[in-house]
Amino acid sequence: LNYQVPRTRREILETLVKGLQRLEYRGYDSAGIAVDGPDKTATDINSNTICLIKKMGKVKALDEELHKKDTLDLDAELCKHFGIAHTRWATHGEPSAVNSHPHRSDKENEFVVIHNGIITNYKELKAYLITKGYEFESETDTEVIPKLIKYVYDNRESDSVTFSTLVERVIQQLEGAFALVFKSRHFPGDAVSTRRGSPLLIGVRSEAELSTEQIPVQYNSGRLKEGVQEKNSHNRPDCSNDSVGDGSAVEYYFASDASAIIEHTNKVLYLEDNDIAAVTKGKLSIHRLNKKAGDDPVRAIQTLQMELQQIMKGNFDAFMQKEIFEQPESVVNTMRGRICFDSNKVVLGGLKDHMKEIKRCRRLIMIGCGTSFHAAVGTRQILEELTELPVMVELASDFLDRNTPVFRDDVCFFISQSGETADTLMALRYCKDHGALIVGITNTVGSSICRETTCGVHINAGPEIGVASTKAYTSQFVALIMFGLMVSEDRLSLQRRRLEIMSGLKVLPELIKNVLSLDEKIKTIASELYKQKSLLVMGRGFNYATCLEGALKIKEITYMHSEGILAGELKHGPLALIDKNMPVIMIIMRDACYIKCQNALQQVTARSGRPIILCCQDDPEVTKNAYQTIELPHTVDCLQGILCVIPLQLLSFHLAVMRGYDVDCPRNLAKSVTVE
Ligand code: G6P
Repeated sequence: LNYQVPRTRREILETLVKGLQRLEYRGYDSAGIAVDGPDKTATDINSNTICLIKKMGKVKALDEELHKKDTLDLDAELCKHFGIAHTRWATHGEPSAVNSHPHRSDKENEFVVIHNGIITNYKELKAYLITKGYEFESETDTEVIPKLIKYVYDNRESDSVTFSTLVERVIQQLEGAFALVFKSRHFPGDAVSTRRGSPLLIGVRSEAELSTEQIPVQYNSGRLKEGVQEKNSHNRPDCSNDSVGDGSAVEYYFASDASAIIEHTNKVLYLEDNDIAAVTKGKLSIHRLNKKAGDDPVRAIQTLQMELQQIMKGNFDAFMQKEIFEQPESVVNTMRGRICFDSNKVVLGGLKDHMKEIKRCRRLIMIGCGTSFHAAVGTRQILEELTELPVMVELASDFLDRNTPVFRDDVCFFISQSGETADTLMALRYCKDHGALIVGITNTVGSSICRETTCGVHINAGPEIGVASTKAYTSQFVALIMFGLMVSEDRLSLQRRRLEIMSGLKVLPELIKNVLSLDEKIKTIASELYKQKSLLVMGRGFNYATCLEGALKIKEITYMHSEGILAGELKHGPLALIDKNMPVIMIIMRDACYIKCQNALQQVTARSGRPIILCCQDDPEVTKNAYQTIELPHTVDCLQGILCVIPLQLLSFHLAVMRGYDVDCPRNLAKSVTVE
């Protein structure tokens, strides 16, 4: 929204499309946009129509479509405008233009809505609305929302009902998870947004210094309030100075992720569940029903440290490649200010007030999905050793399926790059309900998991755009090891071990650089493998997680079948897969499992297998049996997984490129899965 300084419609569309492009990395299948007035002759707000354009495929396809529409007067200057745009990742209904958002209330586009999340009671609502004569055009859960708001609007008791009151009535009927933004012909230029369970933030850009750093929350004390909006505020073109009180221009950006808006503003506020934020005549207000104990009565505007450059590709061909090469710096950022190598101390500020409780606990439970789960698997052994506690590692979905017993004296870690993964968030709430201490390990400041945990660690890896997680994994790994070091600070018997790990961490960035210098060699190996159908990755001990994570990378972006196999299980099944044609990667490092891994190697070569081996430098015993070798610098056993995973990240990247796939947007996957 902009006051005083007019914008062309072209600029408005560009802002919306750019925002979508910044989020496209999450992996979506269709996109759509709603802006005011298709009519070339009208001055838009006066014409009071809404133009809806939706397209299957990438945001680029939508952008091309927008420029094809000659009904849209792109040069029209608008002094106030509210547009919405969305990229969809199909949950209900196949990817198609009609199923993409915004969804509308009717053919006249009286209300249009975009939605992230899932409405679980949509079938009941849809059935009801059909009995009331509403016609549905898509197969989505979302479409009930615009129909429902129109129903509420059509049945309003008074003409002075506000836009946000209508939305409040709608969300009282909704079950599931949502972040919603509404636009309406009845309230031109005004915006209403709300959330429950899905992320939503508001960016504020003002020409003047912000006159306030906090937006007060208004409570409705149970009964829905009728509006205070002036009568006939509809249909009014308005360029008056009524924005933030001082008459300066102000723009508001609603987004599910800060990367969509960071080039416009770094001032953001995060909405809480059931907040309803409305921009009415250029002024932002937030309200919610009933004040509850523990409610914060204000939403503070925060300044984000994220820079646009951090989310740009730079000289790399893909975000994933850039992120792999960022790892020497991202692990430093995870450690920065937290490790003192002189005194061998680790202080994780977000945990220090809870250390007593943590040290007294019955067990640690580490919960995550995908790559984040692998970070738990990869650090489990060293955490057991350093904390001397039982450590469970759990996939969030399975943990919930089992109704796993959780106790008040458990400490539960929720590991998530995005901080928004629905399965992980549900598991968090489950553990919270059981009274456990909730710790977050996340990469996204302000995310739902951050806000719902009692304490935690930001891994500070910087924005990760590639759908296949890379630098977040190594930073989660480092953060969890730092936790182990912090807990074991006063265990005399562990001091030597701690010192060894600390020295390993100190040189880790240099060693990562050495591993990255093997890129060309890995590319050559990829050129021999890229036509294969399968690729097995085998190892054990500290590197079992590396196998799982390597295989996940390969699956995610190359679409080859890949399995991470625990070498100890080889003879219990997977050995049947081995012959001279099956490509196998084996991880054999000089650690406690070295001899056992060599045995596995014998078993593979005895069946004419041709293993590509990740091993330590100068290990003739292993290399003599290898078909190909990738020799890696040696480090402490518990850190070796960080160095070993990088060649597999690079390999999957090169394989995907050679197979002709879009590395950053793998088919069917999303970066942040906010549905169960
Ligand atoms: C999705 C992504 C994975 C990611 C997983 C967990 O499935 O495609 O790459 O590892 O979610 O995400 P989180 O943000 O919780 O770490």
